[in-house]
This record gives sequence, C-alpha cells and structure tokens, in this order.
Amino acid sequence: MDQNELKKMAGRKAAEFVHDDMILGLGTGSTVRYMVEAVAERVKNESLHITGVATSRRTRDQAEKLGIHMKSVDEVPYIDVTIDGADEIDKNFQGIKGGGAAHTMEKIVATASNQNIWIVDESKIVDQLGRFPLPTEVIPYGSTKVFQRLADEGLHPRFRLNEDGTRVTTHSKNYVIDLHMKQIQHPHLLQDWLIRQVGIVEQGLFLDLVNKVVVGTQDGPKVLD
Ligand code: 5RP
Repeated sequence: MDQNELKKMAGRKAAEFVHDDMILGLGTGSTVRYMVEAVAERVKNESLHITGVATSRRTRDQAEKLGIHMKSVDEVPYIDVTIDGADEIDKNFQGIKGGGAAHTMEKIVATASNQNIWIVDESKIVDQLGRFPLPTEVIPYGSTKVFQRLADEGLHPRFRLNEDGTRVTTHSKNYVIDLHMKQIQHPHLLQDWLIRQVGIVEQGLFLDLVNKVVVGTQDGPKVLD
C-alpha cells in the first residue's frame, strides 16, 4: 500500500470514534480529508447529529459541502474530540504539526478539546522529533529581526516559499518560518524559548496534547493510546 492508502486507512478508522451529538474538531491535511469523508458518510447513513469545528477554511469548505453542520471555535462551549493529522510523532505522543501552515488554528482547536486523536501513516512515527522542519508563524512586521534571532540561536530558519518564490502566508496573513534543525533534543525547552520571542505567534510543537493515535500500517490500522 502506498502512503495515501495508509492515510486513508487511518482517517477512516478514526471516523469510528465519532458518535451522536458530538462537537467534533476537524483538523487539516490530506489524512484529515479522508476522515472528513468517512464522518460525512456516517452522518448521512446513521443520521448522526454532529457539530464540526474546522481548523482551516479548506476543511470547513469540504465538511460543509458534504453536509456536516459547522460552527466556529468561538461559537461552541467546548469540543469533545478533535481528529487531526501530524507531520511527526514520537513514542510519547509528542509531535510536530504545521506542514499545511494551519498550526495556529489547529492548536487553538486542540487546546479547546477534551480529547485529541491524531491520524497518521506509519512514516510519521519517529524516534526523535526534528527531521521535519519545525514551523513557526511570524507576524510580517519585524519578521527579518525574528529570523535573525532564530538564526543566532542556531535554529536554521528558512522562510517558507510558494512555488513562485513569494512567501507563504497563513490564514491570518502571517509568514511561516521553518526551523531546519534535523533533531530536537529538548522539545519543552525549545517550546518555552520560542513562545517568549516577540513576533512569533505560534509554533508547531504539540506537546502533551494527544490522547490517541491511529496509525495506517501495512498490517492494517493500529490504535495507540
Ligand atoms: C497542517 C498539518 C497537517 O495535519 C500535517 O501537515 C499532516 O498533513 P497530511 O495529513 O497531509 O500528511 O499540520 O498544518
């Protein structure tokens, strides 16, 4: 099976954790697209009452088109469960997100959720975080200064670029600076340092947030908790 089939396997398996009357956070990315499709099928076939809360415009548009009733994060009192993808996850369920530049909205929804389930293909499971460049979201004003501070700290920053060479911007019109560190030895210390830097809105380390991981493997879906 190729990577897409494993993503589909994880996404469809996670849809089984959805039940009636749930407020459900919907993450972002290609694995999430499969999960949203499967959830929409269950909503239709089993007449489930689900309220979805999206972490991006892309996901909201897809879910609405498929008939899932959607609200914004500020319109719901809490979220029962959020199901989201990830770029890397280690054996302690610490991870990196933001490959789709949606990590700030994803973290807002994740921290408003009673439970977080991640859906990944088996290539995302790592011994140590950091091979995937760690995304940060940075306000354009003064971003060169932030970039310099990150470089001085030895974090190997690079502005994320579109194919035409322009800078990628997030939903909030901020830039993404990726940190090409190769290995992150102390994720909590790095997180503490990054969130203290003026100009950085959010960063892609998701620590101590995940309760369950659904992995698409060559031997079938695996649920880790
Ligand atoms: C978006 C994310 C995605 O969840 C992450 O990039 C995984 O994406 P995919 O399922 O397409 O591999 O964090 O900001």
